[in-house]
Parts: sequence; structure tokens; C-alpha cells
Amino acid sequence: VISVEKDVENLSKNDEIEHAAKRIIAGEVVAFPTETVYGLGGNALSDKAIERIYEAKGRPSDNPLIVHIANMEQLSKYVEKIPSPAQKLMEAFWPGPLTIVLEHSGNLSPRVTANLSTVAVRMPDHPIALALIKASDIPLAAPSANTSGKPSPTTADHVYHDLNGRIPLIIDGGPTGVGVESTVVDCSTGEVIILRPGGVTKEQLEEVVGQVSEDPALYEKDLTPKSPGMKYTHYAPSAPLVLVDGGVDFFHRQVEEGVAAGKKVGVMVTEDNRGLFLEAHQEVVCGKRTDLSTVAQRLYESLRAFDKNNVDIIYSEVFPETAIGSAIMNRLRKAAGGQVIKE
Ligand code: TXA
Ligand code: MG
Repeated sequence: VISVEKDVENLSKNDEIEHAAKRIIAGEVVAFPTETVYGLGGNALSDKAIERIYEAKGRPSDNPLIVHIANMEQLSKYVEKIPSPAQKLMEAFWPGPLTIVLEHSGNLSPRVTANLSTVAVRMPDHPIALALIKASDIPLAAPSANTSGKPSPTTADHVYHDLNGRIPLIIDGGPTGVGVESTVVDCSTGEVIILRPGGVTKEQLEEVVGQVSEDPALYEKDLTPKSPGMKYTHYAPSAPLVLVDGGVDFFHRQVEEGVAAGKKVGVMVTEDNRGLFLEAHQEVVCGKRTDLSTVAQRLYESLRAFDKNNVDIIYSEVFPETAIGSAIMNRLRKAAGGQVIKE
């Protein structure tokens, strides 16, 4: 683990970054911070490097990776054409937490795209990520730097916990900002379709391109998602997670029943409900209901916190599915394997 101060000038000439870039050029993989979550980066042109990413994460190889770029020249080498809505979205949100799926031109490792005709690309809004891409002068294929299926990493510690011994280098740039992954939109068909809700909200996208639709599989369990990664269980803590959609009394009853059944119960609540469920074995406070961006920021570290106490079951609040709440609920539903109890 090497620490890099993210606010210093001329980061791409920083010794640590240059060292990391050399490893990337040599075909190794390096974990690095982005504004959303930590990524595990490798040369997007090298089959061998991509192989190493899948191996370190234990990721199914039919789940394609996002290619991270630092400037528009890099993009033009790897995508066939840029439809006008995609162009507008890039101008509005790059660098930033938006990933755009486009037809690729065949110059990337086919392992990156899992043999699809499209590639997912984004320009991250983080000085260390951008400096690493510039210093290596290579587009970086990078999934989240966690063990496949676990909550994504928002600190270098999370990466270390999951991948220690499996990767040669972690760049520690402090906690990430957004806390949930980028929004993935498909722009390869002329339409704009959200495949994964994330850091840029549907409302923000609509302001720029008007009509935006969502992959119906995001809400219907029986449909096959257009984004291969969305079909896997994800973001899950070790104990089963149950989402409680109801008032405080209803929440209380779930906790009491769990405790009465002899279970160690964990509760994930917002500031507003802190200290309400005293019979629970562990309480994790995950931000403020009045500012859901704080919940997004703390979501994954909150889920990870339960693993330390070996609880048997976790009950969590639910959130309104507007703005960043859509991304939060998407991750929570996946982490819960669809287990929601309604009052
Ligand atoms: O914020 C993020 O996006 C983070 C940071 C590290 O940049 N990365 C990330 O990568 O979340 P990953 O691999 O965990 O998620 C990539 C998602 C998966 O759901 C994958 O299936 C989808 O993007 N994806 C990649 N290529 C695709 C394509 N050609 N068509 C549709 N979906 C694609
Ligand atoms: Mg991931």
C-alpha cells in the first residue's frame, strides 16, 4: 500500500504514481481510488493483464469491465462512433461518475468486453485515477477492487481486506467521495438507457438529453438484465440482509422477533433513527435521511461493518427511489437478494 496526497500539483510526475504506472505497463494490476469506489486497474489492451483482474477478484469472465480514460483522444481510438446523445452526456458529466456503453472498434482486449460488440467507457473525476492513466498512457480496464460479490471498496483498507496477497499494489488516496459506482448508460442504440443507476441521477441525465429510459430488469427479477454484471448477487455482507419497508413500530417487531429467535441482530439505520432499536446486537448508522448522498457515501462501509461482529441477520431501512436513492436501493435490493418485508 502506498499513500498519495491527491491534492498536490503535477500528480502524473509523482514518484509513486510513476512507479504504479510502470507496473501497469508491465502487465500487472494496481488498485487505485476514483470518485466513486476503488478500482482494480490493468492494461485494457492486454489479455494477460485482464486475466489477472478476473483472477484477483474471482469475477465471472462473462462480466465485462469498464475502460477508464483520461482524455478524448484515447476514446476515439477505441470506439466506432459517438452518437449525439453520448457526446452531450460526455460534455456534461465527464470527468465524472457516468459510464457510457458504445460500439467498440476492436482495438481493446476482447477479454475486457467479454466478446460483446460494445464497450463501457468512463473518465473518472479523481486526480489520482487521471494521473495514473496519463502516466501509463494506457486505457485502464477497472472493475471495483473488491472480491466479486462483496460490497465495493470505498477505502484502501477495504481493498486490502479483500485482495491482500492477490495484487501487488494499492494506491491509498483516502476515502472515495460518491460512495456508489458510476451510472452505466447504453448509448449504442441511439436511445439512452440506464443499465445501472449510480452517481449521476436519471433526473440529471434527462436535463441534458431529454428522454431517458431504464432497463426494466432493474425492477423485475425475472427479466435478464442488459448489463451482464447486474445478474449476479452483489454487494452482500456475510449475514442475510432484509429490507424493512414500514414504520418504526414495524421495524421494532422484526428486531424483536429476531432476538426472540436467538439471533444476533444487526440494524442499519439513518441518524434519524439512531438508538431506537436497543435490543439489537449491533447498530450501524449510515448517513442522514435528509441528505441521501451521505447514505450513498457510507453504504458499503456500513454493510461491511456487520461482518466484523458476525451478526446472524441484518435489518435495514429503505429509501425513496429518486435521485441518488435509486442507486442506493438498487444496491440494497441486490445485497438483500430481493428480501423486502412490507408493513
Ligand atoms: O464507478 C465505477 O463504475 C467503478 C469504478 C472503479 O470506476 N467500476 C465498476 O466496475 O463499478 P464494475 O466492473 O464493478 O461494474 C461494471 C458494470 C458491470 O455491471 C458490467 O456488466 C457493466 O458495467 N458493463 C461493462 N461493459 C458493458 C457492456 N459492454 N455492456 C453492458 N454493460 C457493461
Ligand atoms: Mg463491482
